[in-house]
Amino acid sequence: MNINGTPWRSIWMNQDHGPVCIIDQTLLPHELAVRELHTLEQAAEAITVMRVRGAPLIGATAAYGLALGLRADASDHGLLRACEQLTATRPTASNLAWALRRLRRELEPLSAADRPAAALRLAADLCDEDVAINAAIGDHGLRLIRQLLAARGGPARPFHILTHCNAGWLATVDWGTALAPIYKAHDAGIDVHVWVDETRPRNQGAALTAWELAAHGVAHDVVVDNAGGHLMQHGLVDLVLVGTDRTVRSGDVCNKIGTYLKALAAADNGVPFHVALPGPTIDWAMDDGLRQIPIEERSAREVTHLTGRSEQGDLREVQLVPDGVSARNFAFDVTPARLVTGLLTERGACAASEAGLLALYPEQASAA
Ligand code: MRU
Repeated sequence: MNINGTPWRSIWMNQDHGPVCIIDQTLLPHELAVRELHTLEQAAEAITVMRVRGAPLIGATAAYGLALGLRADASDHGLLRACEQLTATRPTASNLAWALRRLRRELEPLSAADRPAAALRLAADLCDEDVAINAAIGDHGLRLIRQLLAARGGPARPFHILTHCNAGWLATVDWGTALAPIYKAHDAGIDVHVWVDETRPRNQGAALTAWELAAHGVAHDVVVDNAGGHLMQHGLVDLVLVGTDRTVRSGDVCNKIGTYLKALAAADNGVPFHVALPGPTIDWAMDDGLRQIPIEERSAREVTHLTGRSEQGDLREVQLVPDGVSARNFAFDVTPARLVTGLLTERGACAASEAGLLALYPEQASAA
């Protein structure tokens, strides 16, 4: 996507054997800084501390991280160690394990001498594929927005979409998943307006989604996480559209903590609740999201403290809670398939069910 007229991706490689470059998302929206990754350890750190985040981008960074690791040690042992180190960074998003499985399958049969260059090529291919997947989700989502607009009828007013967390281009290599249809609708001249949940505790909505939408000129308002129900009760949400970190074959959707509450409010108010779902985010080996998906628990400090820009322009961290308070930080929750109106994949829209998913991905029928 464009920043001040210049096209960017969230991750890229500088020349053939240069460093891997990322946008350091821990500094946004206050500073747009590029960070170079030279080693496996730096790539793993970037995922763990969320310099890069969002399921598809975590997968892409893991792929490049593996390539960086093989530069140092391309033996069988090096390949295994790099995969283990990257797998341990964040547990919830499917894309991480998916990307590593895919590269490992291709790299294992190769000689150690051939592995580093092959790994870089595979990582670059995976990134290009991610861009194509998200662009296709955008096209299918645009069709959904047009249908809902036509069904709504009534007086002309903006089409209000509520989103949670950041499922924009920063969470992927480009386009985003849940934000791709919004960008496409805006570019097609549809008057869209986005309610941006701030998304405590890390504020991906307030910091990243708001920044992205502003850069693209899409109308939006940041709201506190608990405002969604109120907005829906007053007819101010036409569509809830979110991303996902892992969706299982039954259609249960895991996404940023708080997504489930939006789905409950949407069901109570008859608001369509759709999930943008790239193929690599589907976990075909699981069928019960609540029981099986590992939910990341992050540092309590992300709950007890907040970082922002002071009037003087420097970044400061402040404490929100009484000294010594106990806090817990569950990063994701699971929305049962029964609360999901539909899934938007790169292959089209489907019901949040095994039958719906298998109609689009028949090759997965035997993957259970
Ligand atoms: O903890 P994060 O910021 O990595 O969580 C990101 C999300 O929950 C996104 O909604 C999800 O990864 C989909 S991104 C296209």
